[in-house]
Amino acid sequence: MATEPEAVQCPVRADFDPLDPAFLEDPYAVLASLPVAEEPVFYAPALDYYVVTRYADVEAVFLDPHSYSAATAQLPLVPLVPAAREILAAGGHRPQPSMVSLDPPAHTRLRRPTSRAFTPRRVAAMEARIRATVDELLDAVDPAAPFDLVAALTFPLPASIVFSFMGVPEADWARLKEWCGHRATLAWGRPAPDEQVEHAESMAAYRGYLRELVAAKADARGDDYASALLAIHDEDPEALTHEEIASILFSLSFAGHETTNNLIGNTVRRLLEEPVRYERLVKEPQQIPHTVDEILRFDPSVPVWRRVTTKPATLGGVELPANAKLFLWLAAAGRDASVFPDPEAFDPERPNSRRTLAFGRGIHFCIGSALGRLEATLALEALTRPFPALRLVPADQEIPFHPNISFRGPQALWVDPGMSG
Ligand code: HEM
Repeated sequence: MATEPEAVQCPVRADFDPLDPAFLEDPYAVLASLPVAEEPVFYAPALDYYVVTRYADVEAVFLDPHSYSAATAQLPLVPLVPAAREILAAGGHRPQPSMVSLDPPAHTRLRRPTSRAFTPRRVAAMEARIRATVDELLDAVDPAAPFDLVAALTFPLPASIVFSFMGVPEADWARLKEWCGHRATLAWGRPAPDEQVEHAESMAAYRGYLRELVAAKADARGDDYASALLAIHDEDPEALTHEEIASILFSLSFAGHETTNNLIGNTVRRLLEEPVRYERLVKEPQQIPHTVDEILRFDPSVPVWRRVTTKPATLGGVELPANAKLFLWLAAAGRDASVFPDPEAFDPERPNSRRTLAFGRGIHFCIGSALGRLEATLALEALTRPFPALRLVPADQEIPFHPNISFRGPQALWVDPGMSG
């Protein structure tokens, strides 16, 4: 009788903490120190999560929503204090606060109108606005002095683009940006109790704002995404309620923002770390889109996403109980040598960079992947043209990263246009 390979006891890594300063500084050094070939799945007691590192396992989880629920996708990493929980509940912010945490059929109900209104035409129509915004932001830079590229370009660009796409009045962009910052720390960081209350208050204000926006748009439609959702509501008000439209806008306002800010920041950082990479794009701008794809494999802006088992399961040879919380390490999957040979090499000509799991896979696959890629491509084109000699200053600068598990990119990146003579 053939014998099945036996599932093993799960290895435990007591020292694995993705919010530790050393990890935040260089998660790839931590990855390189782990025996992931022998232990592709391990338990991290610092988080109470099982860490999944192999491409095939991460992909299998994404493709099986019955066995692996999305309920943990936005779950606060630390239990919230009662005061924060009460503020969130009163503000209509539930533990599965939006589409990306829901399973079918609740997910399908929201995903269908979200993708229907997110037409390729609407994304393509953003191209002119992205170009104009990038030019405006770069025109404001003094080419004779070093500047912080995050403050000047990567942070303001995607926020302006996604908010104008949605139909948010420009006067409100700054408030929305601030609320998004609170949201990142609340769900993906480790805030202290008093900070939790502050973040929860922001979250309630953020949701209240989006409800009011939907009500105002209902009476004054525009050529924007919120109005496109309202048109779907008009066809069958029961199939998509105003509350659900506000929830979809809650998804987009955040998902289209830090992810892309970080993607552009990571791209420029990795190019300037080895200036020949940047110089090549100055000469061959047609390589930019593929370079962006390789960055998404090499140093993704969403390095971790989460799931939870709905029943006992075996993954990477390890038996998992029901309700096991999974830390899907997308950045590690991008370095899996069985899919990406010589994975530590940054290779813009790699034929399969696009197989990256950086945008997820399956029913929750990122709705904004084309928009995010387009923004990064146009930003790089606009940067390499006027600044062919751009460099990091100092070259070995300490790059700050926000202390959370899922959104990674430089919080500041000092560059010199190299034009001061
Ligand atoms: C450019 C960098 C981006 C990255 C790396 C990224 C990554 C991701 C990931 C990992 C997921 C979860 C997938 C899953 O659970 O299987 C996701 C979902 C999502 N993304 Fe993105 N994203 C990016 C940009 C955007 C943009 C620009 C938008 C919209 C304007 C957007 C909207 C969404 C939405 C709405 C979902 C939820 C889809 C669902 O639950 O069905 N993303 N994204």
